[in-house]
Amino acid sequence: MKKDLISILDLTKEEILEIFKLARKVKGEVKTGKYRDCFNQKTLAMIFEKPSLRTRVSFEAGFTQLGGHAIYLGPKDISLGSRESVPDIARNLDRMVDIIMARVFAHKSVEELAKYSKIPVINGLSDKEHPCQVLADYLTIEEHKGRTSGIKFTFVGAGNNMSHSLMLISTMLGADFYMACAKGYEPDNEYVEKSKEMAKRNNSKVVITYDPVEAVKDADVVYTDVWASMGEEAEKEERAKAFKDYQVNMKLFKNAKSDAIFMHCLPAHRGEEVTDDVIDSSNSVVFDEAENRLHAQKAVMLKLLGVNE
Ligand code: CP
Ligand code: NVA
Repeated sequence: MKKDLISILDLTKEEILEIFKLARKVKGEVKTGKYRDCFNQKTLAMIFEKPSLRTRVSFEAGFTQLGGHAIYLGPKDISLGSRESVPDIARNLDRMVDIIMARVFAHKSVEELAKYSKIPVINGLSDKEHPCQVLADYLTIEEHKGRTSGIKFTFVGAGNNMSHSLMLISTMLGADFYMACAKGYEPDNEYVEKSKEMAKRNNSKVVITYDPVEAVKDADVVYTDVWASMGEEAEKEERAKAFKDYQVNMKLFKNAKSDAIFMHCLPAHRGEEVTDDVIDSSNSVVFDEAENRLHAQKAVMLKLLGVNE
Protein backbone atom coordinates (compact mmCIF):
# COMPACT_ATOMS: atom_id res chain seq x y z
CA MET A 1 0.00 0.00 0.00
CA LYS A 2 1.05 3.57 -0.57
CA LYS A 3 1.59 5.75 2.52
CA ASP A 4 -1.61 7.76 1.93
CA LEU A 5 -5.16 7.46 0.63
CA ILE A 6 -5.80 10.70 -1.24
CA SER A 7 -7.40 9.28 -4.37
CA ILE A 8 -8.89 5.90 -5.23
CA LEU A 9 -6.00 5.81 -7.71
CA ASP A 10 -3.64 5.38 -4.74
CA LEU A 11 -5.01 1.83 -4.46
CA THR A 12 -4.74 -1.07 -6.87
CA LYS A 13 -7.75 -3.21 -7.62
CA GLU A 14 -6.20 -5.98 -5.49
CA GLU A 15 -5.74 -3.60 -2.56
CA ILE A 16 -9.37 -2.48 -2.80
CA LEU A 17 -10.51 -6.10 -2.68
CA GLU A 18 -8.22 -6.74 0.30
CA ILE A 19 -9.73 -3.73 2.08
CA PHE A 20 -13.21 -5.18 1.52
CA LYS A 21 -12.08 -8.53 2.89
CA LEU A 22 -10.65 -6.96 6.02
CA ALA A 23 -13.68 -4.66 6.40
CA ARG A 24 -15.98 -7.69 6.34
CA LYS A 25 -13.80 -9.37 8.96
CA VAL A 26 -13.70 -6.30 11.19
CA LYS A 27 -17.45 -5.82 10.79
CA GLY A 28 -18.13 -9.44 11.73
CA GLU A 29 -15.89 -9.37 14.76
CA VAL A 30 -17.05 -6.18 16.45
CA LYS A 31 -18.77 -8.29 19.13
CA THR A 32 -15.79 -10.58 19.83
CA GLY A 33 -13.57 -7.55 20.36
CA LYS A 34 -10.75 -9.08 18.32
CA TYR A 35 -9.59 -5.71 17.02
CA ARG A 36 -10.22 -3.81 20.26
CA ASP A 37 -6.61 -2.96 21.10
CA CYS A 38 -5.06 -2.57 17.64
CA PHE A 39 -4.60 1.18 17.98
CA ASN A 40 -3.62 1.21 21.66
CA GLN A 41 -1.65 4.44 22.37
CA LYS A 42 -2.23 5.71 18.84
CA THR A 43 -3.75 9.06 17.90
CA LEU A 44 -5.67 10.19 14.85
CA ALA A 45 -5.81 13.92 13.99
CA MET A 46 -8.98 14.84 12.12
CA ILE A 47 -8.84 18.14 10.24
CA PHE A 48 -12.15 19.60 9.05
CA GLU A 49 -12.50 22.68 6.85
CA LYS A 50 -16.17 21.79 6.20
CA PRO A 51 -19.08 20.36 8.24
CA SER A 52 -19.61 16.62 8.63
CA LEU A 53 -21.79 14.04 10.33
CA ARG A 54 -20.75 10.65 8.90
CA THR A 55 -17.06 11.31 8.30
CA ARG A 56 -16.40 12.75 11.72
CA VAL A 57 -18.40 10.18 13.64
CA SER A 58 -17.23 7.13 11.67
CA PHE A 59 -13.56 8.08 11.94
CA GLU A 60 -13.75 9.09 15.59
CA ALA A 61 -15.90 6.16 16.71
CA GLY A 62 -13.91 3.75 14.52
CA PHE A 63 -10.55 4.81 15.89
CA THR A 64 -11.87 4.63 19.46
CA GLN A 65 -13.35 1.17 18.88
CA LEU A 66 -9.88 -0.02 17.80
CA GLY A 67 -8.33 1.26 21.02
CA GLY A 68 -6.99 4.64 19.89
CA HIS A 69 -7.83 8.28 20.44
CA ALA A 70 -9.02 10.81 17.84
CA ILE A 71 -8.67 14.60 18.01
CA TYR A 72 -11.15 16.83 16.17
CA LEU A 73 -9.59 19.94 14.65
CA GLY A 74 -12.40 22.10 13.27
CA PRO A 75 -12.19 25.07 10.90
CA LYS A 76 -11.64 27.55 13.72
CA ASP A 77 -9.03 25.44 15.52
CA ILE A 78 -6.22 25.45 12.99
CA SER A 79 -7.41 27.57 10.01
CA LEU A 80 -5.62 25.41 7.46
CA GLY A 81 -3.37 27.54 5.28
CA SER A 82 -4.20 30.90 6.84
CA ARG A 83 -3.05 30.71 10.47
CA GLU A 84 -0.29 28.38 9.41
CA SER A 85 0.85 26.89 6.09
CA VAL A 86 -0.28 23.40 5.12
CA PRO A 87 3.31 22.03 5.01
CA ASP A 88 4.01 23.39 8.50
CA ILE A 89 0.82 21.85 9.86
CA ALA A 90 1.87 18.51 8.35
CA ARG A 91 5.37 18.77 9.84
CA ASN A 92 3.97 19.55 13.30
CA LEU A 93 1.32 16.87 13.35
CA ASP A 94 3.65 14.05 12.32
CA ARG A 95 5.74 14.70 15.46
CA MET A 96 2.69 14.16 17.65
CA VAL A 97 0.15 11.80 16.12
CA ASP A 98 0.17 8.58 14.09
CA ILE A 99 -2.28 9.28 11.28
CA ILE A 100 -4.18 12.24 9.79
CA MET A 101 -7.60 12.44 8.16
CA ALA A 102 -8.49 15.72 6.45
CA ARG A 103 -11.63 17.17 4.87
CA VAL A 104 -10.61 20.14 2.78
CA PHE A 105 -11.83 22.55 0.14
CA ALA A 106 -8.87 22.35 -2.27
CA HIS A 107 -7.70 18.87 -3.22
CA LYS A 108 -4.16 20.29 -3.27
CA SER A 109 -4.33 20.86 0.50
CA VAL A 110 -4.75 17.17 1.29
CA GLU A 111 -2.06 16.30 -1.28
CA GLU A 112 0.30 18.74 0.46
CA LEU A 113 -0.50 17.32 3.90
CA ALA A 114 0.50 13.91 2.54
CA LYS A 115 3.62 15.23 0.86
CA TYR A 116 4.97 17.05 3.91
CA SER A 117 4.09 14.58 6.66
CA LYS A 118 5.84 11.31 7.33
CA ILE A 119 2.66 9.64 8.59
CA PRO A 120 -0.35 8.36 6.57
CA VAL A 121 -2.89 10.95 5.41
CA ILE A 122 -6.46 10.04 4.42
CA ASN A 123 -8.67 12.24 2.25
CA GLY A 124 -11.98 12.66 4.10
CA LEU A 125 -13.41 14.60 1.10
CA SER A 126 -11.97 17.34 -1.08
CA ASP A 127 -13.47 19.34 -3.94
CA LYS A 128 -12.25 16.59 -6.32
CA GLU A 129 -12.63 13.24 -4.56
CA HIS A 130 -14.19 11.29 -1.68
CA PRO A 131 -12.35 7.94 -1.65
CA CYS A 132 -13.54 6.69 1.76
CA GLN A 133 -17.17 7.10 0.77
CA VAL A 134 -16.83 5.05 -2.41
CA LEU A 135 -15.00 2.24 -0.61
CA ALA A 136 -17.97 2.03 1.77
CA ASP A 137 -20.33 2.24 -1.22
CA TYR A 138 -18.80 -0.68 -3.09
CA LEU A 139 -18.61 -2.71 0.12
CA THR A 140 -22.37 -2.08 0.34
CA ILE A 141 -22.89 -3.08 -3.31
CA GLU A 142 -21.00 -6.30 -2.68
CA GLU A 143 -23.25 -7.05 0.30
CA HIS A 144 -26.46 -6.42 -1.64
CA LYS A 145 -25.57 -7.66 -5.11
CA GLY A 146 -23.00 -10.33 -4.26
CA ARG A 147 -20.56 -8.82 -6.77
CA THR A 148 -18.92 -5.57 -7.76
CA SER A 149 -18.12 -6.30 -11.41
CA GLY A 150 -20.45 -6.80 -14.34
CA ILE A 151 -23.10 -4.45 -12.98
CA LYS A 152 -24.56 -1.26 -14.42
CA PHE A 153 -23.84 1.56 -11.99
CA THR A 154 -25.60 4.85 -12.68
CA PHE A 155 -24.88 8.23 -11.15
CA VAL A 156 -27.43 10.99 -11.70
CA GLY A 157 -26.17 14.43 -10.77
CA ALA A 158 -23.43 16.99 -11.14
CA GLY A 159 -19.80 16.39 -12.00
CA ASN A 160 -18.34 16.58 -8.49
CA ASN A 161 -16.15 14.79 -5.93
CA MET A 162 -18.58 11.86 -5.66
CA SER A 163 -18.94 11.34 -9.41
CA HIS A 164 -15.15 11.42 -9.82
CA SER A 165 -14.42 8.84 -7.13
CA LEU A 166 -17.35 6.67 -8.21
CA MET A 167 -16.25 6.56 -11.84
CA LEU A 168 -12.72 5.63 -10.78
CA ILE A 169 -13.71 2.81 -8.44
CA SER A 170 -16.47 1.48 -10.74
CA THR A 171 -14.18 1.11 -13.73
CA MET A 172 -11.38 -0.28 -11.57
CA LEU A 173 -13.68 -2.99 -10.27
CA GLY A 174 -15.16 -3.78 -13.68
CA ALA A 175 -18.60 -2.14 -13.34
CA ASP A 176 -20.12 -0.16 -16.21
CA PHE A 177 -20.31 3.49 -15.13
CA TYR A 178 -23.17 5.58 -16.54
CA MET A 179 -23.71 9.18 -15.58
CA ALA A 180 -26.49 11.62 -16.43
CA CYS A 181 -25.78 15.29 -15.76
CA ALA A 182 -27.04 18.68 -16.93
CA LYS A 183 -25.13 20.48 -19.68
CA GLY A 184 -22.29 22.53 -18.24
CA TYR A 185 -22.00 20.32 -15.14
CA GLU A 186 -19.93 17.48 -16.58
CA PRO A 187 -17.24 15.74 -14.49
CA ASP A 188 -13.62 16.86 -14.94
CA ASN A 189 -12.13 15.52 -18.12
CA GLU A 190 -9.03 14.10 -16.43
CA TYR A 191 -11.26 11.79 -14.35
CA VAL A 192 -13.28 10.74 -17.37
CA GLU A 193 -10.11 9.96 -19.33
CA LYS A 194 -8.54 8.03 -16.46
CA SER A 195 -11.75 6.05 -15.94
CA LYS A 196 -11.98 5.23 -19.65
CA GLU A 197 -8.43 3.90 -19.51
CA MET A 198 -9.32 1.68 -16.57
CA ALA A 199 -12.59 0.58 -18.15
CA LYS A 200 -10.62 -0.66 -21.15
CA ARG A 201 -8.35 -2.70 -18.88
CA ASN A 202 -11.19 -4.09 -16.77
CA ASN A 203 -13.73 -4.85 -19.47
CA SER A 204 -16.22 -2.18 -18.46
CA LYS A 205 -17.32 1.17 -19.87
CA VAL A 206 -17.95 4.83 -19.14
CA VAL A 207 -21.00 6.55 -20.62
CA ILE A 208 -21.71 10.22 -19.87
CA THR A 209 -25.09 11.42 -21.13
CA TYR A 210 -27.55 14.28 -20.67
CA ASP A 211 -30.45 11.81 -20.72
CA PRO A 212 -31.34 10.50 -17.23
CA VAL A 213 -33.73 7.84 -18.55
CA GLU A 214 -31.06 6.35 -20.81
CA ALA A 215 -28.61 6.33 -17.91
CA VAL A 216 -31.00 4.70 -15.43
CA LYS A 217 -32.43 2.13 -17.88
CA ASP A 218 -31.80 -1.40 -16.52
CA ALA A 219 -29.32 -0.16 -13.91
CA ASP A 220 -28.39 -2.35 -10.94
CA VAL A 221 -27.45 0.68 -8.85
CA VAL A 222 -28.83 4.22 -9.02
CA TYR A 223 -26.81 6.80 -7.10
CA THR A 224 -27.33 10.49 -6.60
CA ASP A 225 -25.82 13.34 -4.59
CA VAL A 226 -26.67 16.95 -3.80
CA TRP A 227 -26.64 19.27 -6.82
CA ALA A 228 -24.65 21.96 -4.97
CA SER A 229 -21.76 20.59 -2.91
CA MET A 230 -20.25 22.20 0.18
CA GLY A 231 -18.54 25.35 -1.06
CA GLU A 232 -20.98 25.77 -3.98
CA GLU A 233 -23.87 27.14 -1.92
CA ALA A 234 -23.95 30.42 -3.92
CA GLU A 235 -24.86 28.39 -7.04
CA LYS A 236 -27.71 26.53 -5.33
CA GLU A 237 -30.59 28.17 -7.25
CA GLU A 238 -28.91 28.09 -10.63
CA ARG A 239 -28.05 24.41 -10.15
CA ALA A 240 -31.59 23.58 -8.99
CA LYS A 241 -32.86 25.00 -12.29
CA ALA A 242 -30.28 23.15 -14.39
CA PHE A 243 -31.02 19.83 -12.65
CA LYS A 244 -34.82 20.01 -12.42
CA ASP A 245 -35.19 17.08 -14.85
CA TYR A 246 -32.58 15.01 -13.03
CA GLN A 247 -34.44 14.31 -9.79
CA VAL A 248 -34.35 10.65 -8.80
CA ASN A 249 -38.10 10.19 -8.24
CA MET A 250 -40.09 6.96 -8.56
CA LYS A 251 -40.85 7.61 -12.23
CA LEU A 252 -37.15 7.78 -13.08
CA PHE A 253 -36.10 5.03 -10.65
CA LYS A 254 -38.63 2.60 -12.18
CA ASN A 255 -36.49 2.53 -15.35
CA ALA A 256 -33.84 0.62 -13.39
CA LYS A 257 -34.00 -3.15 -12.83
CA SER A 258 -36.75 -4.17 -10.42
CA ASP A 259 -34.15 -5.25 -7.84
CA ALA A 260 -31.98 -2.13 -8.31
CA ILE A 261 -30.63 -0.49 -5.18
CA PHE A 262 -30.78 3.24 -4.52
CA MET A 263 -27.67 4.86 -3.05
CA HIS A 264 -26.74 8.34 -1.76
CA CYS A 265 -23.64 9.38 0.15
CA LEU A 266 -25.82 11.67 2.33
CA PRO A 267 -26.66 14.27 3.45
CA ALA A 268 -29.69 14.14 1.13
CA HIS A 269 -31.69 17.18 0.16
CA ARG A 270 -35.06 15.43 0.08
CA GLY A 271 -37.40 16.86 -2.55
CA GLU A 272 -34.45 18.08 -4.61
CA GLU A 273 -32.13 15.40 -6.03
CA VAL A 274 -34.23 12.57 -4.53
CA THR A 275 -37.82 12.14 -3.40
CA ASP A 276 -38.93 10.56 -0.12
CA ASP A 277 -40.60 7.60 -1.84
CA VAL A 278 -37.26 6.57 -3.39
CA ILE A 279 -34.92 7.18 -0.46
CA ASP A 280 -37.38 5.59 1.98
CA SER A 281 -38.20 2.63 -0.30
CA SER A 282 -37.14 -0.96 0.34
CA ASN A 283 -34.64 -0.56 -2.55
CA SER A 284 -32.76 2.14 -0.65
CA VAL A 285 -29.54 1.14 1.11
CA VAL A 286 -28.40 4.60 2.19
CA PHE A 287 -28.01 3.79 5.88
CA ASP A 288 -26.05 0.61 5.10
CA GLU A 289 -23.67 2.85 3.16
CA ALA A 290 -23.38 5.17 6.13
CA GLU A 291 -22.65 2.28 8.52
CA ASN A 292 -20.10 0.82 6.14
CA ARG A 293 -18.06 4.01 6.36
CA LEU A 294 -17.12 2.77 9.82
CA HIS A 295 -16.03 -0.71 8.70
CA ALA A 296 -14.30 0.30 5.45
CA GLN A 297 -12.30 3.05 7.17
CA LYS A 298 -11.24 0.77 10.01
CA ALA A 299 -9.84 -1.57 7.36
CA VAL A 300 -8.10 1.32 5.57
CA MET A 301 -6.51 2.57 8.81
CA LEU A 302 -5.39 -0.93 9.85
CA LYS A 303 -3.70 -1.31 6.46
CA LEU A 304 -2.13 2.16 6.44
CA LEU A 305 -0.80 1.74 9.97
CA GLY A 306 0.51 -1.71 9.12
CA VAL A 307 -1.22 -3.29 12.08
CA ASN A 308 -0.96 -7.04 11.97
CA GLU A 309 -4.41 -8.33 11.17
N1 CP B 1 -21.16 11.20 3.27
C1 CP B 1 -20.43 12.02 4.04
O1 CP B 1 -19.20 12.19 3.85
O2 CP B 1 -21.13 12.62 5.04
P1 CP B 1 -20.65 13.83 5.95
O3 CP B 1 -20.49 15.03 5.03
O4 CP B 1 -21.73 14.03 6.97
O5 CP B 1 -19.33 13.47 6.58
N1 NVA C 1 -20.76 16.30 -3.03
C1 NVA C 1 -21.05 16.47 -1.63
C2 NVA C 1 -20.71 15.22 -0.87
C3 NVA C 1 -21.01 15.27 0.61
C4 NVA C 1 -20.61 14.01 1.33
C5 NVA C 1 -20.28 17.65 -1.10
O1 NVA C 1 -19.10 17.79 -1.40
O2 NVA C 1 -20.87 18.46 -0.38
